Amino acid sequence: MKDSGTTIRILFIGDIFGMLGKRILAERLPSLLEQERIDCCIANGENAAGGNGLTSNLAKKFRKFGINVITGGNHSFSVPDKDFEFMNQPHILRPLNYPEGNPGHGSTIYELPSGIKVGVVNLIGRTFLHEIPDCPFRSGKAAIEQIKAQTPVIIVDIHAEATSEKISFAWYVDGIASAVLGTHTHVQTADERILPGGTGYISDVGMTGPEASSIGMKPQPVIKKFLFQTHSRFEPSEEGPMLNAVVLEVDSTTGKTTAIKRIYERITFSHE
Ligand SMILES: [Fe+2]
Ligand SMILES: [Fe+2]
Repeated sequence: MKDSGTTIRILFIGDIFGMLGKRILAERLPSLLEQERIDCCIANGENAAGGNGLTSNLAKKFRKFGINVITGGNHSFSVPDKDFEFMNQPHILRPLNYPEGNPGHGSTIYELPSGIKVGVVNLIGRTFLHEIPDCPFRSGKAAIEQIKAQTPVIIVDIHAEATSEKISFAWYVDGIASAVLGTHTHVQTADERILPGGTGYISDVGMTGPEASSIGMKPQPVIKKFLFQTHSRFEPSEEGPMLNAVVLEVDSTTGKTTAIKRIYERITFSHE
């Protein structure tokens, strides 16, 4: 058995939603990073641009706020930037298992000032989603095993609808990934835990955006869609600022998670 090494603290932020999500980060992220003594911050940014996608400018802002790696999801390709050029930057990910030939990439290795490396893998599920990606189990495990040659610390964002798919993937890579963190539903689950092999897990980290919403959008048009089954124009809500995240403690030598803590904060803006 390997000796235990330095513990690193990783903050993973649930789907940043729209303008309010950005304001929440500007307000709270610097103090949260300090308070939690965070070494590496990862955030899902697939809904940052008005609820759909991420733009180059927003990615730059998030980096300034202190986010080191931005992951994506089914909205990664809904961005207004037609060329997707910015997605080729190493710290910006989209799901790895989209068919070959798409722009961007699905994994990266972020190096801390201490030299410790944090691998990040972004996957998308196949159950109850419209996308038809490659198998997240096979491609995800292969990516984790490849990164393993460079670092034992590997965080997986599995962007998926079904909790069964997310937890099954976590069991599949228990002991080889440091953590498997679910995103996409925008609803935080209370099942954070550490699997027997040392893989930290939560079915969904939740959303950083408007709590007074139907998963980010103003409720009324969504209700209308459910009632009448016809097209309804959804608008991002700006009400009820909320930050959802988890903090992981990971042993940098073994790659195992030793603690996982859920964060669900309602934010008050200082200048209001
Ligand atoms: Fe999302
Ligand atoms: Fe999503």
